[in-house]
Amino acid sequence: MDLKQKIRDKSALIGVLGLGYVGFPLSCVIADSGFKVSGIDINKENTERINKGVSIIDEKNLPEIAKKVVENGNLVAGTDYSVLNRCDIIIICVQTPLSEGHIPLYEFLKSACESVSSAIGENALVIIESTIAPGTTDNIIKPILDKSKKIYFLAHSPERVLPGNLIHELINNDRIIGGVDVESTELAKEFYSTFVKGHVISTSAKVAEMTKVAENTYRDVNIAYANELALVCEELGINVYEVIKYANMHPRVNILSPGCGVGGHCIPKDPWLLASSSKRDIRLVEEARRLNEFMIKRMFHLMKTAEHRKKIDVGKVAIFGLTYKGDIKDTRQASGIKLKNELIENGIKEICTYDPYIESDSFNHSLENADVLFICTEHKEFNKWDSNKLNEIKNLMRNPIIIDGRNVVDKKLAEEAGFLYMGIGNI
Ligand SMILES: NC(=O)c1ccc[n+]([C@@H]2O[C@H](COP(=O)([O-])OP(=O)(O)OC[C@H]3O[C@@H](n4cnc5c(N)ncnc54)[C@H](O)[C@@H]3O)[C@@H](O)[C@H]2O)c1
Repeated sequence: MDLKQKIRDKSALIGVLGLGYVGFPLSCVIADSGFKVSGIDINKENTERINKGVSIIDEKNLPEIAKKVVENGNLVAGTDYSVLNRCDIIIICVQTPLSEGHIPLYEFLKSACESVSSAIGENALVIIESTIAPGTTDNIIKPILDKSKKIYFLAHSPERVLPGNLIHELINNDRIIGGVDVESTELAKEFYSTFVKGHVISTSAKVAEMTKVAENTYRDVNIAYANELALVCEELGINVYEVIKYANMHPRVNILSPGCGVGGHCIPKDPWLLASSSKRDIRLVEEARRLNEFMIKRMFHLMKTAEHRKKIDVGKVAIFGLTYKGDIKDTRQASGIKLKNELIENGIKEICTYDPYIESDSFNHSLENADVLFICTEHKEFNKWDSNKLNEIKNLMRNPIIIDGRNVVDKKLAEEAGFLYMGIGNI
């Protein structure tokens, strides 16, 4: 039976390499759609947990699906690559980090491709979901797979999911499919169309690669613009959020929110993948990245200004929010963690942290005798502070100072409660 038919009747065997934030939920969704999936990871502990029906990632609806697909035998995890020999479709979802100097590190990807190359059977389809710089499928991945001397198909389908809403987005987002040739694109399109409800769009591998990094770079540059506006507004005594609200009433303007940095796995990384693909000096993109990273230092500067105004020496600080986005549990590249390191580097010895979504100090313990309260994540819990709550917070602190990196505290209410309030773009 040819692969197209096997995809249509779901008898194609699927192998997924890399069972992390992307690969594990993806395996569960594919298995739940009726395919048999072999998940492979170098992390034995995780594969053992998966085989017990445990979700290794904290995501809504994932535990139920994981339990179901392991119990019905559609998902089996392991560390043995030999299973790939029987797979009709192999999806690679390993991490693609950057070096300290922002150069893409493809060691995990290359090693995964070497393993696929050694084990792959005839006429299999290989799909790369990992985020890669434009040109990587043709220049790095294909030459490794060619060593197999097998006939195979190859496509890139970048993953665009948002942690916190992974299952919904895996199924409902539009998919870009870029094959290295027409047959590869068609087969990959056929496969994704079996479980994706969004549009499944065909293009080349290079366009698919560029689309993914272009999307996240757009967001990073837009946020950098909002941050640039925020810094100018601080200088001029203007509330940047009011400006952005009115500017966005223009039918063709959509300025994102400024704040104390950009976190998460993708946005801080993908602009560097774009930059690495070109010999040109991509100044706009690189400057945007630098400005967004600078915003942590800006939080520290605001603290120094507050210290000076209040004529105090800051002893203890409280950081509220250690996840990179509001109301999720993901701490990757979170501003709260970066701020903590910045404060340590600058000699602040007593730092307490509170986050309702992860293990941390308690709310009260963090605030007791604190001189400054930093807010780094827009959790709903911080958004609803009324005068009573602000008074309660003030009574716990030694010095009532709020440095708000996410525009969550009402400045007027905070000032009425007796706080010195300084926010990014609103001081
Ligand atoms: N996390 C996200 O929100 C997100 C969203 C879109 C795209 N992406 C991209 O998807 C890719 C994967 O990201 P992630 O967040 O899932 O990473 P992750 O670190 O959570 O998971 C990667 C997994 O691959 C495993 N692995 C590494 N080398 C392997 C090998 N040779 N064989 C088998 N397994 C191996 C690791 O042990 C790990 O479990 C990255 O390129 C990332 O940029 C991530």
